[in-house]
Amino acid sequence: MEYTPNDSRSTNKRKVVAVVGGGLVGALNACYFAKRGFAVEVFESREDIRQAKIVRGRSINLALSHRGRQALKQVGMEEKIVTKGIPMHARMIHSLNGTRSPIPYGKKGQYILSVDRTNLNKELLTAAEAYPNTKMNFGHKLLDWSFESGAMTFLRPDGSEEQIKVDLIVGCDGAFSAIRKQFLRQSRFNYSQTYIPHGYMELTMPPHNGDFAMEPNFLHIWPRNTFMMIALPNLDKTFTCTLFMPFEEFEKVTTEDQVIEFFQTYFPDAIPLIGVEALKRDYFRLPAQAMVSVKCSPYHMGDKCVIMGDAAHAVVPFYGQGMNAGFEDCLVFNEVMDQFNEDFSAVLKEYTRVRVPDDHAIADLAMYNYIEMRAHVNSKWFIFRKYVDNFLHFLMPKTIIPLYTMVTFSRIRYHEAVKLWHWQDKVINRGLSICGVMLVVGGTYLLLKHVPRNSSSIPQQLWTQAQTLKWF
Ligand SMILES: Cc1cc2nc3c(=O)[nH]c(=O)nc-3n(C[C@H](O)[C@H](O)[C@H](O)COP(=O)(O)OP(=O)(O)OC[C@H]3O[C@@H](n4cnc5c(N)ncnc54)[C@H](O)[C@@H]3O)c2cc1C
Ligand SMILES: *[C@@H]1O[C@H](CO)[C@@H](O)[C@H](O)[C@H]1NC(C)=O
Ligand SMILES: *[C@@H]1O[C@H](CO)[C@@H](O)[C@H](O)[C@H]1NC(C)=O
Ligand SMILES: *[C@@H]1O[C@H](CO)[C@@H](O)[C@H](O)[C@H]1NC(C)=O
Repeated sequence: MEYTPNDSRSTNKRKVVAVVGGGLVGALNACYFAKRGFAVEVFESREDIRQAKIVRGRSINLALSHRGRQALKQVGMEEKIVTKGIPMHARMIHSLNGTRSPIPYGKKGQYILSVDRTNLNKELLTAAEAYPNTKMNFGHKLLDWSFESGAMTFLRPDGSEEQIKVDLIVGCDGAFSAIRKQFLRQSRFNYSQTYIPHGYMELTMPPHNGDFAMEPNFLHIWPRNTFMMIALPNLDKTFTCTLFMPFEEFEKVTTEDQVIEFFQTYFPDAIPLIGVEALKRDYFRLPAQAMVSVKCSPYHMGDKCVIMGDAAHAVVPFYGQGMNAGFEDCLVFNEVMDQFNEDFSAVLKEYTRVRVPDDHAIADLAMYNYIEMRAHVNSKWFIFRKYVDNFLHFLMPKTIIPLYTMVTFSRIRYHEAVKLWHWQDKVINRGLSICGVMLVVGGTYLLLKHVPRNSSSIPQQLWTQAQTLKWF
């Protein structure tokens, strides 16, 4: 069946844009294309999540930050989403002995927001649908498409197939993108996919006496070297805890007693908060989920197709940037559309040129943070450097900006943030080692002055001091 969406509203021939995938990025993108006046068709394999009873998501809540907010703002959705988010001003580090210590994210007044994934998705679908030139097609699973003809083949829930041709295909169909499959057949297409050894599992921490069980305005972190648990607050006063752990460790815990034993060893303070019975039950409800990192280039094929969001760059979730980067994709594409007058052949090429380095940079940073969050968040050096960086930022707000701040609270291009970070790191480390040398010289002077001349322990002491200072 050949299908051409009807075009009753406009007298001039309106171009038809198909957004494949009605997830977070697809739904937002539909708003952007609709706002420009294209005839927008959204194709989503699932049924309408606004009607479905059970919604299976990937994570229950997400951290929304500046880039995502800016992208929402452009289509008038920022307020609506932000008012339903819970501000998180700092990390709250839970040590093994139960001590909690906050590490601020940035300056006073800077915060990230915990938002509900399902609600965000629903709001964006409703916003997209509000444009009279948008049509939603739920229960349409893309099977394949042809670069030559531009025709897409969809599978309907009743088993029938449908062929559809449009002017531009925008692939927002997630990490396992069916649109991307055609790209893989293209010559000179770079592609890499990595599964990390960690899996994740979500557990719910219910309210206590009608209120949040822990301080609500924080992103709680239990760093345990190779394991880690985090918790983000929800509007219903629950927390969603996410346990990150190598699959082989998940597999070692096979009985209810072992779950409690495991938590007793690593997260004792979380047991009464989640509840012994809930813990025993929920741990076995769903198997641990895998996490994949996908990098590829280019992001377009001719003037027919472009991929955005996880379809173009699935990143591991340790920088809280996957969705934010995907939302920024829509914003950047919109900027390029302005520059090149909506000429798809020029726009798509330019979009790949400007966006690939940035999405690759955030994929790499997320992978780097995967290591940092687990191992360093509780090390003295990490905390010390965070304070030094924040302090220098306070003194020289334009020169020294912590990496986290650039990524989370600015729209500095991701790849430029990385470059700046390397440069700053070199300068700060040099500064710190000069301070270190001064301390050593001063220390030596004092030691030589006060310790008996013959002391054989002097060289050893100095050596230890010098070693320590090398790390600062
Ligand atoms: C545990 C975890 C925590 C995370 N936390 C954060 C966070 O705090 N902050 C953040 O910014 N990001 C976070 N992310 C990343 C974020 O979830 C993703 O980047 C985001 O969901 C990407 O949106 P998307 O629309 O590109 O893809 P998806 O959300 O995957 O949506 C893809 C859509 O396409 C549909 N689809 C798939 N195949 C087809 C097909 N063949 N035909 C038609 N439709 C199809 C799917 O049904 C789905 O609706 C996290 C991810 C995980 C796993
Ligand atoms: C708990 O552990 C942290 C870090 O491991 C440490 O700084 C703190 O002093 C400890 N507190 C108590 C009461 O033992
Ligand atoms: C593919 O990767 C290589 C090596 O990094 C790079 O030189 C080349 O430009 C890339 N090609 C594309 C299309 O991105
Ligand atoms: C040097 O001082 C140490 C005590 O610090 C003493 O044990 C040692 O005998 C002294 N050696 C000499 C050579 O005086």
